[in-house]
Amino acid sequence: MAAIVPAAAMLGGMTIREILKMGDARLLRTAKAVTAFDTDELHVLVSDMLYTMQSINGAGLAAPQIGVDLQVVIFGSDQINPRYPEAPVVPRTVLVNPVITPMSATEESDWEGCLSVPGLRGMVPRFSHIRYTGFDQYGDAIDRTVDGFHARVVQHECDHLIGTLYPMRIRDFSQFGFTEVLFPGLDTPADD
Ligand code: NI
Repeated sequence: MAAIVPAAAMLGGMTIREILKMGDARLLRTAKAVTAFDTDELHVLVSDMLYTMQSINGAGLAAPQIGVDLQVVIFGSDQINPRYPEAPVVPRTVLVNPVITPMSATEESDWEGCLSVPGLRGMVPRFSHIRYTGFDQYGDAIDRTVDGFHARVVQHECDHLIGTLYPMRIRDFSQFGFTEVLFPGLDTPADD
């Protein structure tokens, strides 16, 4: 961990934050709406979240995962994620006060993992096609209609804002287990 402090200093004080793990009651709260945009406080939070997510190749991160009780999620990377090499690229997005609207009742199931549930993967049903709206950290509106992996990531991250972790969405627990057992050839970090 010694390299982290100088790297953080070089990048303007961004800090790798501790990620809470399942069982921590702070992951079960309903997060509060952000009421002021383009503030120093919000920019520091977003910078820390981006830096924390990048440091562990996460596909997304929600503020409650670092113990911050606010409706802020980040996801995407503008490049292939080494943890999900088969997944399409999702644009790097900061999404505040999100609202998700399913565009149809159609669902699809796929494997998910979570930085708060390290070492495990489960098969999770999600809406295939959604519209999501919200704001970026500057208060500019976001309004996108997406499907597939992009829609899955948004639903997973926004679930963190209502105290829901992906295992709570699993319907078939025969498809829930340790990554190293389910995917023995997959080269993923030990903490997923
Ligand atoms: Ni998660």
